[in-house]
Amino acid sequence: MQIARTVSCLRAAIADLRRTGGRVVLVPTMGALHDGHLALVNAAAMRAEHVVVSIFVNPRQFGPNEDYADYPRQEQTDLRLLEDAGVSLVWAPSVETMYPAGYATSVSVSGVTRDLDGATRPGHFEGVATVVLKLFNQVRPDVAIFGEKDFQQLAMVRRLAHDLDTGVEVVGCPTDRAEDGLALSSRNAYLSPDQRINAATIPRVLGAAAESLRMGEPVSQTLLTAKSRLEQAGFSPIDYLDLRDAATLEPVDILLSPARLMVAAWLGTTRLIDNMAV
Ligand code: PAJ
Repeated sequence: MQIARTVSCLRAAIADLRRTGGRVVLVPTMGALHDGHLALVNAAAMRAEHVVVSIFVNPRQFGPNEDYADYPRQEQTDLRLLEDAGVSLVWAPSVETMYPAGYATSVSVSGVTRDLDGATRPGHFEGVATVVLKLFNQVRPDVAIFGEKDFQQLAMVRRLAHDLDTGVEVVGCPTDRAEDGLALSSRNAYLSPDQRINAATIPRVLGAAAESLRMGEPVSQTLLTAKSRLEQAGFSPIDYLDLRDAATLEPVDILLSPARLMVAAWLGTTRLIDNMAV
């Protein structure tokens, strides 16, 4: 497994992979890898001969009061996991390599980023869009894999890849969950043991709400019940809990086509997000 830390080193490594033939698939991450990330790596290996994983904690997608400084970093462990998973190349640039002095460009996608995390985390999606486009330009993959765990991010990346003619095929992978249903996330490391047990209320509430909707319960009633169950379990504030069209992310009042229950809520100082198909 090769590790590239500069753009020129990356380009040389990619050129080597390309010379041997086969397709290149990129899995962008911020490291602190867990089984959810490794599921993406496995899905990637099914789609192309050469798996490239990027590890970069992108400062531009964190707000001023968010957890950029505290975000878990464990590069040695990550590299071991990726080596064991059969990854060809790891792209691990520094902040200065990604955003050298004088850097002045950002990318923004409208529409799907308008609300939900777009409203509660101003600037977040611009930061993600910018880094993802840079990663696409640096690696020039045939395919890129993203998790449904960050459903709004996936919708935005699909839009970006298409709108800017990147030629990258964007593939979404289902959310990997712990045994109690909690979506795996690097941020779960922030939870105390008690909070960790309580956090599994989110998938339970989403599952029950999805079932009620399928049984024909009105959307507004289902959402009220789900919110109050989260509040009772100690989640506060709830940034949003809403039913959205699975493709456009527009609000859904009556369930007619594939939809997604989407939630972001705080447990103490940790913000958890999740979503479920309906
Ligand atoms: P990060 O949170 O490290 O996630 C990297 C990828 O793993 C994302 O596509 C995310 O949706 C996916 N992922 C995380 N938890 C998952 C789970 N439990 N099951 C399945 N997939 C999961 O998302 C980012 O990094 C960044 O915003 C990034 C796209 C790398 C840009 O900086």
